Order: sequence, then C-alpha cells, then structure tokens
Amino acid sequence: MENNKINRRDFIVKGAKTVVMGALALSSLDVVKLVSAAQNTEFEQSNVQKVINLADYPELATSGGYAMITEKVIVIRKSKSKFIAINISCTHKKCDVEYDGSSFECPCHGSTFDNSGKVTGGPASKNLKSYRTTFDVNSNTLTIDM
Ligand code: FES
Repeated sequence: MENNKINRRDFIVKGAKTVVMGALALSSLDVVKLVSAAQNTEFEQSNVQKVINLADYPELATSGGYAMITEKVIVIRKSKSKFIAINISCTHKKCDVEYDGSSFECPCHGSTFDNSGKVTGGPASKNLKSYRTTFDVNSNTLTIDM
C-alpha cells in the first residue's frame, strides 16, 4: 500500500514531466504545421503548373514545331522528348517578341534571341524567361511550371 501512495515531491515531478511532454508534443505538431504551411505557400507563390495535352497541339507533334499555349507563352519542341516553354515578353521593355521558327526578334527595338530564348542582340541584355517543362510520354502531356 505504501508504494501506491504518491508524495508531494513525486506529484510535482510527475506533473512537471507531463507538462514538458505535452509541450514537446505540441511543439512538434506546430513545427510540422509550420513547415507544411511554408511549403504550401511557396508552392502556391512560385509554381503554377499548366498541363497541356499534346494531342491538342498538332504543331508540337514533330521536332522544331511550336505553338502558343497562352497569350504569352510559346512551347517549342526541341526533340522527341525535349520541350522548352518561353515567355515572349521582351526583357528590354516588354514588347512581345516574334518567333520565326528558328529565333526570336522584338519588333519594338530589334533585340534578338535564339530558339532557347538566349539573347543574341540588344538592346535587351537578359534572356527571355523560360519555364521548366516535364514531358510524360505515357499520357502525351507536357507540364509547364509557370
Ligand atoms: S522592347 Fe524589345 S527590344 Fe525594346
């Protein structure tokens, strides 16, 4: 019987341990929630994915083909499995550049860019913005991280 009794000191020690364990458990949950929230926020802010079905873009069926998939984004098929997606806003003063099948040229002040968006002639000094693409051969879809 004597062993089942709890004295004041044991009560305080056990109580303190319970409080500490509870705080640690809560802290762990809070950290998980915060990390999750941070990841979701980052995902929402930096990654908008657009998935296109290549069957809807016959121009992209062969290497060298290209098609506008939004008002500002062109996709170029570089090879059987490689695509690039480029924003057509000129990096000089935001005019829409034009693609002739092998390079881009800006109608406003004449900047030129190669077919990967790399600047080849000024006044623009920065490459065109490009987006990561992922080709899924099984579903014949292309995912663009915009
Ligand atoms: S806006 Fe394109 S060269 Fe000036």
